[in-house]
Amino acid sequence: MLIPDDFHALIIGSTGSLGCAFADQLRQDRRCKSLTELSRSSHPGFDLRDPEAFDAVVQTLAAPAALSLIIDASGTLVIDGHRPEKALRELEARRLQQAMDINAIGPMLLIKALFPLLLQRGKVLYVKLSARVGSIQDNQTGGWYGYRASKAALNMMLQCLALEWQRTNPQAQVLALQPGTVRSRLSRDFVQPSMHALSPEESVRRCLAAIDQRTPKPGAQFIDYQGMAIPW
Ligand SMILES: NC(=O)c1ccc[n+]([C@@H]2O[C@H](COP(=O)([O-])OP(=O)(O)OC[C@H]3O[C@@H](n4cnc5c(N)ncnc54)[C@H](OP(=O)(O)O)[C@@H]3O)[C@@H](O)[C@H]2O)c1
Repeated sequence: MLIPDDFHALIIGSTGSLGCAFADQLRQDRRCKSLTELSRSSHPGFDLRDPEAFDAVVQTLAAPAALSLIIDASGTLVIDGHRPEKALRELEARRLQQAMDINAIGPMLLIKALFPLLLQRGKVLYVKLSARVGSIQDNQTGGWYGYRASKAALNMMLQCLALEWQRTNPQAQVLALQPGTVRSRLSRDFVQPSMHALSPEESVRRCLAAIDQRTPKPGAQFIDYQGMAIPW
């Protein structure tokens, strides 16, 4: 049971397919005491490529109490209209940097800025949407250099965060979450109608059930929507 009782939640990236489904389903959870949404179009809003603005955004965030459940469902796959790289010859510094900024560096600097708003003692859970393709061990096909690398970098920083945080709050938990292959804005150019894929609602229903069934562990956990551990 990783989800705290009587939680105050923050959903980051709540305009996304999965972020919106997380917000909808958590709002109906009897344990949810408040739910705050943060996105590029919320007020205040934020852009992951502009970390210098994060402190100001956090200062105007109206959360009624210390946050004990934070779900960050932001992320990107297509950068500036370019599909993910399939081959070395397609690599471009600017696009690789943007994948890092949006999928790894931005989210970590945002949770850094948010840290004073989090519950300091007791059960608190930070879930960041990652991706199975960020697993180095699981990579059997190659390709998608920037997206894979940014999720692998994210995973490493989530592990660092969990280990550091648990020194001051042993009940803090960090999850890197793989939602499955989901029909969404991010995946629409890659998931054909004939392919098996989850709806955002089904993915989130299964993710929340999987999270609830996990037990706390030292360090971060990298799991999928079925609650199965993924090798880092
Ligand atoms: N869909 C899948 O099959 C799948 C599989 C594995 C992992 N994931 C991961 O799940 C997460 C959510 O994906 P999704 O399918 O729900 O994608 P989505 O519908 O495209 O949602 C992405 C979210 O990220 C936000 N975002 C993108 N760039 C941003 C930026 N520069 N600054 C601030 N916010 C930004 C979007 O905001 P706007 O609404 O303003 O654009 C939106 O809220 C991602 O981390 C993705 O890597 C998805």
